[in-house]
Amino acid sequence: MDPRVLEKYKSPAGAASYNVKYEEEWIKRLSKRREFRVIERVFSIVGPQKRLLDLPSGTGRLFLALRPFGREFFETDVSREMLKLARVNLAEFKPHVAQASAFHIPYRDASFDCVFSARLAHHIPNSEERDRYIRELGRVSRGWVVMTFFHTWSLKNILRRVRRLWNRKRPKITMSPGELREVAKTVGLELVTTIPLARLFSGHHYAIFRKVKEASS
Ligand SMILES: C[S@@+](CC[C@H](N)C(=O)[O-])C[C@H]1O[C@@H](n2cnc3c(N)ncnc32)[C@H](O)[C@@H]1O
Repeated sequence: MDPRVLEKYKSPAGAASYNVKYEEEWIKRLSKRREFRVIERVFSIVGPQKRLLDLPSGTGRLFLALRPFGREFFETDVSREMLKLARVNLAEFKPHVAQASAFHIPYRDASFDCVFSARLAHHIPNSEERDRYIRELGRVSRGWVVMTFFHTWSLKNILRRVRRLWNRKRPKITMSPGELREVAKTVGLELVTTIPLARLFSGHHYAIFRKVKEASS
């Protein structure tokens, strides 16, 4: 992750601002509502699960969407400030809360029935680190992995690439289902499907993986 972005997430002000971002801006409120519906669709495939790891959880923004589909929740993030707010936001639900990096997840292999990871992959510019992150998600899951990625062939990304010819904006950090499949199979995960957040207005997709067998290289 860009160190400046990470510093922001780790700071009290950055965490506080993220905590209200999806409530204050109407476009973000709309996007959150849409995301809740997509998560419902995701779990109509995955089914209800017992132990669910949410990493990175941030301030627990998606907890209420996940809650109907899990019994025991582990809210985990590298930022202590995000977790402080998650503790307050989710006080009545009493999830486990732990500080940890997605590159070194401090849980044993196959500890969770489902590992859920929203909005981190597109912040990791280095492809080896991205692969390592996905392998870690797969390692600690014994059933399912659900993660978001910014789709290389989404309309949003194609338009951005065309516009770069004159506006020189930085390219997005993207992945294709083929790339996901390749890294996933090294930890015994099979890509079941991907679901776009909003076909026209977002490049973010949810990818659903199922653990099928021992890891292969
Ligand atoms: C865009 S927020 C997403 C949070 C939450 N999943 C959501 O959708 O609201 C990105 C989060 O990733 C966390 N993060 C960044 N690098 C991380 C790492 N290496 N391991 C765990 N969390 C990380 C940040 O602290 C931040 O809370």
